[in-house]
Amino acid sequence: MAGTPSCLESTCQDQAHEEPDTADGSASGRTAQTARAFVRDYMAFLLPRDLNSLWTIGAMLMAVLVLMLLSGLTLALTYTPDASLAFSSVETLERRVPFGWLLRSLHMTGATFFMAALYLHVFRGLWYGSYRAPRQGLWSVGTVLLILVMVTAFAGYVLPWGQMSYWGADVAGKAVGAIPLVGNTLEGVFLGGESPGTATLHRMFVLHFTLAFTIVGLVLLHVAILHRRGSTSPSGAAGQDRARMLPFHPYFTVKDGLGVVVLAILFTLVMCFWPGLVTEAANYRPANPLHTPADIEPEWYFLPFYGMLQAVPSKFFGLLVSGGAVAILLVVPWLDRGTAATFAAGRWGGLRWLPRVALGVLVCSCVLAGLAGRHHVQGVWLLLGRLATVGYYLYFLGFLPFYSRLVGREARS
Ligand code: HEM
Repeated sequence: MAGTPSCLESTCQDQAHEEPDTADGSASGRTAQTARAFVRDYMAFLLPRDLNSLWTIGAMLMAVLVLMLLSGLTLALTYTPDASLAFSSVETLERRVPFGWLLRSLHMTGATFFMAALYLHVFRGLWYGSYRAPRQGLWSVGTVLLILVMVTAFAGYVLPWGQMSYWGADVAGKAVGAIPLVGNTLEGVFLGGESPGTATLHRMFVLHFTLAFTIVGLVLLHVAILHRRGSTSPSGAAGQDRARMLPFHPYFTVKDGLGVVVLAILFTLVMCFWPGLVTEAANYRPANPLHTPADIEPEWYFLPFYGMLQAVPSKFFGLLVSGGAVAILLVVPWLDRGTAATFAAGRWGGLRWLPRVALGVLVCSCVLAGLAGRHHVQGVWLLLGRLATVGYYLYFLGFLPFYSRLVGREARS
């Protein structure tokens, strides 16, 4: 929302009176003033009052990101990125380092929660059309974040050097190698040799480490853009009415705080009672290049894309289809040409059910592609995997352009 006021008028005026005199112009005075202005603008930032609990997921993501950074940095103190030592360094951490098991559990559970929250966050954006003008930039930065988080999660999964780590890196290397002309070179750069080994581990460790900090920088950008553009709301354009806005503090700090507490409880329950949900038993066996596991499957959050990769007979086209399934999010604001106003009109008009059904088809397609990814993609699973891939792409390439045109026409008439 261009020109969204960043604080309630009365709040801004009161705060202007409270501002201590920093006319001495000293560097520390200016820094203090900037810091105060930053806190004031963020705390008084106006948000639509009808934001529902799906809007607390952003705060949950921030909380889990901080946890991932802290636990990751501590894990890095004992981890050794060498093919002959990596597995045992993780085992030593689990068994000998005080609270090492806790640190690792926090990091592994965090990865699952982060990805789950990220998918819900994207779903919320699609459901409420939060990618529409003027928030295209916000959405694009979000998609880049999603891609970087996925790469970081993949690199992290290779590090413990268990069976799934090794064979996951092998499958990914071969998929990259299938790219025409440059494939072999890229595979060599990715693996650092003919097959996964110490060089691969070094690459994954550096990637995992550096991307984590890149993500932090991009999250700051993401939130800064949100503060320029303002939030969407469940009630669409009507929710942007100034009289229906509330300052971030205390209303949303309390709501977000509650969301983070609920998440922390769920997190602790999963970590303590159902660790099997966030770990893969096969990855507790050390990497063995001579023994290919019967079922190589990635973590749950990559399964839909893995299913799509396998549903296409050619490796290269499989890579295009599964990579494209994430990359297509980048162009969503340009596939759907509706505005917040036409969106609100269409939502409450005769076609109210259509976007929900379409999004339902998208979610079912993701689940089905994920299930196909869990099985050997042949016979009925191959058929289902292909159907799911078509369903997924139909949402973006068929439904979004079609629906926005339909709603635009309805709004004009
Ligand atoms: C590291 C990952 C991410 C973090 C930490 C993050 C954080 C946040 C936060 C704190 C907010 C404000 C609160 C809220 O609306 O929930 C927000 C809003 C938003 N995010 Fe993200 N985000 C991430 C990834 C993404 C991704 C992958 C997308 C989409 C592809 C995305 C799209 C958006 C949009 C469109 C909004 C504005 C929603 C509105 O209009 O109110 N974000 N994000």
